Amino acid sequence: MAIFKNNITHPEPVVPQHIAIIMDGNGRWAKRRGLPRTAGHKKGANNFRTIADYMNKIGVKYMTFYAFSTENWKRSKEEIEIIMDLFKDYLEEALDRFEETDMRMVFIGDRSVLKPELVALMDKIEAVSKDHKGAVVNMAINYGGRQEITAACKRIAQKVKDGVLDPDEIDEDLISANIFTAGQPDPDLIIRPSGEFRLSNFLIWQSAYSEFWFDNVMWPEFSTKDLDRAIRDYSNRQRRFGGVK
Ligand code: IPE
Ligand code: IPE
Ligand code: MG
Repeated sequence: MAIFKNNITHPEPVVPQHIAIIMDGNGRWAKRRGLPRTAGHKKGANNFRTIADYMNKIGVKYMTFYAFSTENWKRSKEEIEIIMDLFKDYLEEALDRFEETDMRMVFIGDRSVLKPELVALMDKIEAVSKDHKGAVVNMAINYGGRQEITAACKRIAQKVKDGVLDPDEIDEDLISANIFTAGQPDPDLIIRPSGEFRLSNFLIWQSAYSEFWFDNVMWPEFSTKDLDRAIRDYSNRQRRFGGVK
C-alpha cells in the first residue's frame, strides 16, 4: 500500500498507458559541470535508453520522447551535428537490438530535411519493428506540433479539392487520423524535467487532456526513481475530462 503526499492511499500506482517526455536540460547539466553542451546530449541519450527500458518493464504501452524540435535548428551547426550523430549511433544500435526486443519504434516529425542516411535507418527500424507487439516508442525528431497540424490541414484540404471529402466530414477523429500519432491513444502523462514549465510545441493536439509533471532535475539525471514519483502522483489524480465525478 503506497502512501501519497496528501495521505490518500492507493493500492497500486496506476501505470499510465502513454507517457511522453520532453528530454530537456542536457546543455545546462553539462555547463554546470564545466563540460561542453554536447557532453550533456551524450549523457541525455544514454538516459533515454535507461528510461525507455524501464518504462517498457513496468508496462507502459506507448511512450513518446521529444528529441529534436522544429525550432532546434536555431542552434549552432556544431551542436546540431553532434545531436544528429548521436541519433545515428542510437539507431544503428537499436537496429541490432530490435531483433531481440518486442518494442515498436515510430518516428514522428518531418524527416524530409534530415540526412538521407539517417532517414534510411529510421525507415529500416520502423519496417523491422512494425509487427512487434510490445510497447510503442515514438521518437520525435524534427517534430513540431504546429507543423504536424499544418501538414494535416494541407492533406485534408487536398482531399476536399479532389472531391473525395466533404467539409462536413471533417471532425476531431479525422484530424487525429491525419497526424503522426494516428491510431495511438493520447498521452496520459507528459513529463518535462529541467525546471521549464512549457510545452515548446510538443504534442499540442494530443495533449488536450494530458496530465503534466514538471521536475527541476535535468534530463541526464532524471532517474527511474523520479519517474516513479511522477507516476505515483499521477495515480492519485482525478481526471474528469470536463465531466463531474
Ligand atoms: C534538450 O536539452 C535537448 C535538445 C533540445 C536537443 P537542451 O539542449 O535544450 O538543454 P538546455 O535546455 O539548454 O539545458
Ligand atoms: C524542447 O526543448 C525540445 C526538446 C527537448 C527536444 P528546448 O530546450 O528546445 O525548448 P525551449 O527553447 O526551452 O522552449
Ligand atoms: Mg532546452
